[in-house]
Amino acid sequence: MRQFLVAGNWKMNTQRATAVALATDVARGAASATGVEVLVCPPFPYLEAVAGAIRGSSVRLGAQNASAEKPGAYTGETAIEMLIDCGCASVILGHSERRTLYGETDALVNRKVKAVRTQGLQAILCVGEQLADREAERTEQILDGQMTGSLEGVDGDAVADLVIAYEPVWAIGTGKTASPEQAQAAHAHLRKWLAGRYNPAVADGIRILYGGSVKADNALTLLQQPDIDGALVGGASLSAANFLPIVEAGVQAQGK
Ligand code: PGA
Repeated sequence: MRQFLVAGNWKMNTQRATAVALATDVARGAASATGVEVLVCPPFPYLEAVAGAIRGSSVRLGAQNASAEKPGAYTGETAIEMLIDCGCASVILGHSERRTLYGETDALVNRKVKAVRTQGLQAILCVGEQLADREAERTEQILDGQMTGSLEGVDGDAVADLVIAYEPVWAIGTGKTASPEQAQAAHAHLRKWLAGRYNPAVADGIRILYGGSVKADNALTLLQQPDIDGALVGGASLSAANFLPIVEAGVQAQGK
């Protein structure tokens, strides 16, 4: 059975003191969330401070991006080796903000997935369609293209522990959530794609998170869908009072 994963993507928010306070509160609250894996992804400069705040708890540390390159002359970039050194277990790759604002292509995301997996970190690969794609009924075609491009040559052990995050771009930070039915249909499609690309056992083991305006009041119905294995949470991850009820929804939806 797939274990729920609830991940907080803090994006470019918090400062040292607020990051530490938030992480401390999340670690405290998550202690009772039996069976749900909790991950926090702070901005790079606060990774170490947050690592300290969650030390000894069940909460894991993740990064929001990584370079595909080995350490060297890449001004402004962050190497996977550095993320590991800071205590990261996981890294979000190909988030729609990286794709649309910073021009990340499937080919670049693919290089990052491979580099992250080679170093033994967990990759959370984000895919999702724009509103125009959904309206033109091209959602599945877009997802297939992103999956094919981002996972090219990612085989064997590299696929173990991979996490997919389905994030419809029109639902990110907009307050518009995909309906549970829309989300489930996309997740089922992604799992079918994984079964075809790998095999049914691999597809059955890979967690597919939903992301896009997940809040305390919509988390439970989303997590109750058969192919939704957790949430990637942006805005609502910036306060423990908003984030912990989503973790709690995971506890409640277990064994669905
Ligand atoms: P949101 O962001 O929860 O603020 O919509 C989700 C994400 O971008 O990962």
